[in-house]
Amino acid sequence: MKSYEKLLKNNKEWSAEAIKNDPDVFKRLAEIQTPEFLWIGCSDSRVPADRITGTQPGEIFVHRNIANMVVHTDINLLAVLEYAVNFLKVKHIIVCGHYNCGGVKAAMSSHNYGIINKWIRNIKDVYRTHRDEIDYQTKEEDRLDKLIELNVQEQVLNLAKTSIIQKCWKNEQRPYLHGWVYNLEDGLIKPLCEMSHADHLDPLYEFDDL
Ligand code: CO
Repeated sequence: MKSYEKLLKNNKEWSAEAIKNDPDVFKRLAEIQTPEFLWIGCSDSRVPADRITGTQPGEIFVHRNIANMVVHTDINLLAVLEYAVNFLKVKHIIVCGHYNCGGVKAAMSSHNYGIINKWIRNIKDVYRTHRDEIDYQTKEEDRLDKLIELNVQEQVLNLAKTSIIQKCWKNEQRPYLHGWVYNLEDGLIKPLCEMSHADHLDPLYEFDDL
């Protein structure tokens, strides 16, 4: 059997098992999705959003890219965010990074990754913004861990800078923004930070005409 054929076989088994446990599951899911969460995570294959959070189909709306970035010119991210906030009306947005992230590691090196440089540049900017706090760590692996955590916090802040979030915060007490980091070595998530409508943003990023 070819490697990809295994996936199709697994799928048949998974579908049959799901129907056995809940005969109407797909009928129900096909009609509507009402997820409470938007997950912005890394594309890394070892960090599957639903598996590590024990969520079922229909519970979590997912966007993944290299190093879980919120880049304000990324139309893909913005479309997902707009849809999740204004149509699905999610209550919580989770930015989840992970230790030993290859994207963040690449940003700490001087290696030329070609087209990927353009994406990684955004992580280098986080490093530059927090250089003192990162370089304060004497060990290379501690510097990487620190940048991974600060990068998550910076992406939460990037969400708060968008007019999509600010407009929703002006009218409703949602969404709550969460910054988490996942540990590949023990499978555990550590919460790092939170932001909500009650928090104040640097006035430089606040819109007054929403
Ligand atoms: Co990663």
